[in-house]
Amino acid sequence: MAITIAIPKERRAAETRVAATPETVKKFKTLGLDVVVETGAGDATKISDADYTAAGATIAASAAEALKNADIVLKVRGPDANEIGLLKRGAILAALLAPATEKDLIAKLAEAGVVAFSMELLPRISRAQAMDVLSSQANLAGYKAVIDAAAQFGRAMPMMMTAAGTIAPARVLVMGVGVAGLQAIATAKRLGAIVSATDVRPATKEQCESLGATFVAVIDDEFKQAQTATGYAKEMSKDYQAKQQALISETIKKQDIVITTALIPGRKAPVLVTEEMVKTMKPGSIIVDLAAEQGGNCPLTVANEVVERHGVTLMGYTNLPGRLAVDTSSLYARNLFNFVSLFVDKKTADVVLNWDDEIIKGAGVTRDGAVTHPAAKQA
Ligand code: NAI
Repeated sequence: MAITIAIPKERRAAETRVAATPETVKKFKTLGLDVVVETGAGDATKISDADYTAAGATIAASAAEALKNADIVLKVRGPDANEIGLLKRGAILAALLAPATEKDLIAKLAEAGVVAFSMELLPRISRAQAMDVLSSQANLAGYKAVIDAAAQFGRAMPMMMTAAGTIAPARVLVMGVGVAGLQAIATAKRLGAIVSATDVRPATKEQCESLGATFVAVIDDEFKQAQTATGYAKEMSKDYQAKQQALISETIKKQDIVITTALIPGRKAPVLVTEEMVKTMKPGSIIVDLAAEQGGNCPLTVANEVVERHGVTLMGYTNLPGRLAVDTSSLYARNLFNFVSLFVDKKTADVVLNWDDEIIKGAGVTRDGAVTHPAAKQA
């Protein structure tokens, strides 16, 4: 019997994305796999059951029907308790499982005998780039952050010279120049803003400048060592943070829009914009805090809400990729297709998991009834 892939409907509140599109369904069929999609799975992305059927999928009337024979289950977010109960022992699951925070979910998946892959843990090596969900989603989140800010901002972004006079361009500061930050810089530039950016990793200086943004950072010995071997930021010392805050305090007063994206893997997001700094910002300024889910880069951010504090609007959406669900789903689905292709034998269409492959091993969080990844283990 052919290997069956199931795409259940996302059940978490406000999750609008879907883990497969008609395009990836067709590709899975070409690999020799059967695809079952739960009815309504594509509703929020405007993909109908008929679109999935036309691509070669079978529609299941419920999660139970979709999951009962599934060998591979693809999701955006982790399954709920009911779904876990419906999974076959030995079924493979790939999703954004948030292993750093959702330890109970991971433990339950282990108990249920599921072979779970947390897509966030995929090693960021060249061979895995086409599977890199963090990049595909963060890229669009960075774009959407600027678009949301521009829509909320009571003024224009570019300089405009009109017969009635000139309008000054908006000033945008991007804090944290990873994947999301780079796209935020590029988007703000395209809209005509004057853009500056800050990060603690030295490599970002040149990246900012090549996109036309001014780089603002405390460049000392600690800064020169701030990037880990895997390319992420280290947690900076109290001394560095104080110097960084002093510099940012001066810069932030002049900004109209601040986009914060700073994260340190496995830790609470660093505070980059203090309440004191917010008080110095111009009335009508906007802060979009992409780190809202990890505690926020500004302590005034309220996760999932848009609030006004000291005349500044703070936007704390935690699922920015979900606000562009058609495009983010399309990229996420392709990331998952590329990941699944890695372990489906091209000739026999069987699943062959090679645990010596650093991608398979790196993303694996549970197998044979146990939690296998250190980042996913209970403290
Ligand atoms: P992230 O989401 O973990 O963090 C966002 C940014 O916040 C990072 O640039 C980080 O340096 C910065 N940050 C942390 N603490 C800060 C502070 N106190 N002040 C200012 N900024 C601070 O990072 P992301 O976007 O996941 O990228 C991490 C790295 O991985 C980057 O070097 C990126 O280029 C690299 N990468 C490599 C890929 C590959 O396939 N080789 C693919 C994607 C990303």
